[in-house]
Amino acid sequence: MVFRLFKKKVAASVLPLKVDVHSHLLPGIDDGVDTWEESLYILEELIKIGYNKVITTPHVMSDHYPNTPEIILGKLHELKHLIRQHGLPVEVEAAAEYYLDETFLTNLENNGKFLTFGDNYLLFETSFINKPTFLIEAVFKISAHGYKPVLAHPERYIYIQENMKILEDLLERDVLMQLNINSLTGYYSKAARKLAEKLIDNNYISFLGSDCHNERHLAVIREAYSMKYFKKATQLDLRNYTL
Ligand SMILES: [Fe+2]
Repeated sequence: MVFRLFKKKVAASVLPLKVDVHSHLLPGIDDGVDTWEESLYILEELIKIGYNKVITTPHVMSDHYPNTPEIILGKLHELKHLIRQHGLPVEVEAAAEYYLDETFLTNLENNGKFLTFGDNYLLFETSFINKPTFLIEAVFKISAHGYKPVLAHPERYIYIQENMKILEDLLERDVLMQLNINSLTGYYSKAARKLAEKLIDNNYISFLGSDCHNERHLAVIREAYSMKYFKKATQLDLRNYTL
């Protein structure tokens, strides 16, 4: 009984999720927010939800969003200025969400500059449908270059929904998993929700992220916060708490 009470107390102490590691809040450079007003509004709302640090992660995808560290950091600089002007109590940083494509691999091989967060965490995503043929090679190269690979929203990929072994193989290769909070409501799909719950049950998650692109996502994030599995996720040994 005493042990149970103690466990409850410990769990409660880690509940507040104060750091977000995935969002699209730099306007005009990807499919996230369009204006600074929208960006500031979302940050205000995230502060109300309880965040005090937001690491925003614009897409880097050679075909659609050819963002460079200079472009992203230039926008971050502007955002920081606006945050100071408006007196918002939030710290912002920028990394990126790298799409695994040929350009990404070439940049890696050429020792290009990559934006990471925390302990050299490099956030990446893949095709939603097919497993990239060079997935394992890419993960190996990311690690070989000294970065810690973090797979964005594993629960959303159809090829992982159909074959969990792919994810378990990545975990064995020290790939960290970042779950989208919104997946818990079924916002993306039933299959994504089911897999999200399974990943939490199996303690496979290292990061929680909002992946907030726009104001509409805020309502989903709030809904997710009331869900049993969100609470369960916040009780995992998340690296959000180390940032
Ligand atoms: Fe994203």
